[in-house]
Amino acid sequence: MGAAMRYRRRDNAEVYAAMKRLEGRVAIITGAGSGIGRATALLFAAEGARVVHCDRSAEGTEATQALLAAVGHDGVGIAADVADEATAPRLVAIALEKFGKLTTLMNNAGVGSNALTGEMSIEEWDRVHNINVRAQFLLIRAALPAMIKAGGGSIVNVASVMAEATDYGLAPYCSSKAGVAGLTRTVALEYGKHGIRANYLMPGPIYTGLTRANFDRDQIRAVWEKKTALRRLGQPEDMAKVALFLASSDADYVTGAGIRADGGLMLRA
Ligand SMILES: NC(=O)c1ccc[n+]([C@@H]2O[C@H](COP(=O)([O-])OP(=O)(O)OC[C@H]3O[C@@H](n4cnc5c(N)ncnc54)[C@H](O)[C@@H]3O)[C@@H](O)[C@H]2O)c1
Repeated sequence: MGAAMRYRRRDNAEVYAAMKRLEGRVAIITGAGSGIGRATALLFAAEGARVVHCDRSAEGTEATQALLAAVGHDGVGIAADVADEATAPRLVAIALEKFGKLTTLMNNAGVGSNALTGEMSIEEWDRVHNINVRAQFLLIRAALPAMIKAGGGSIVNVASVMAEATDYGLAPYCSSKAGVAGLTRTVALEYGKHGIRANYLMPGPIYTGLTRANFDRDQIRAVWEKKTALRRLGQPEDMAKVALFLASSDADYVTGAGIRADGGLMLRA
């Protein structure tokens, strides 16, 4: 194919007429029973995607499914633990059986940690890594054949600003989130030739189920609000919008990138 054809500009009207940015996409979203995952499931569906979602909380999964159904979306939600090796193939099989393909994956389920390194049990170290990074690998591995068959797709892995920084008690959290960055870059390199993009999102302080107990304490919330340049905590929707950008054709030439969405938290030394 000559350069003129290969780099042909698409007609602007055609591009901008596509109002819904995920029309025709089928997405798997993990940890969608709360926070960032739920907001992303709702936004992706609103932008035209068919959504398969999971959470280890059955209650959370049902609530997300009800929110999707309330606005007429036919998503499928299952209560499942992403650390369980059976979950990844199950989610991919549901996407293929129910919606006929898989184009989009948002690896979002994650857990925190809270113990000094010298007092950290091996079980806790493994638990955090199993959920935060090993489960992302399992789902990517299960999803790749279907995404290749679909002619390409987008993988959005949720890391954290803690992939690049740290705090007391966060050894397995930081280690696993830095692992997400390395995993994502490698997948981006290996599968770009199949039209698969892989990027990771680094949220800052977001008001969600994970952080609510801390941020509901006025003093703690005030400290973190002040640490951000924008002087506020992030909302799950703030992250969902970045995930939408990465999942959509707006990010057609973005791969292997880590996007920090932290209200300016990390600007200051
Ligand atoms: N909230 C923040 O400030 C913040 C900052 C940086 C990164 N993150 C990351 O964002 C992601 C989403 O977290 P959130 O803040 O929305 O928290 P959240 O607790 O509101 O949502 C996370 C969801 O993941 C689910 N989950 C946890 N372990 C699971 C497992 N093994 N299998 C299936 N589901 C599981 C939980 O049940 C929960 O519904 C996580 O990866 C987290 O590390 C959050």
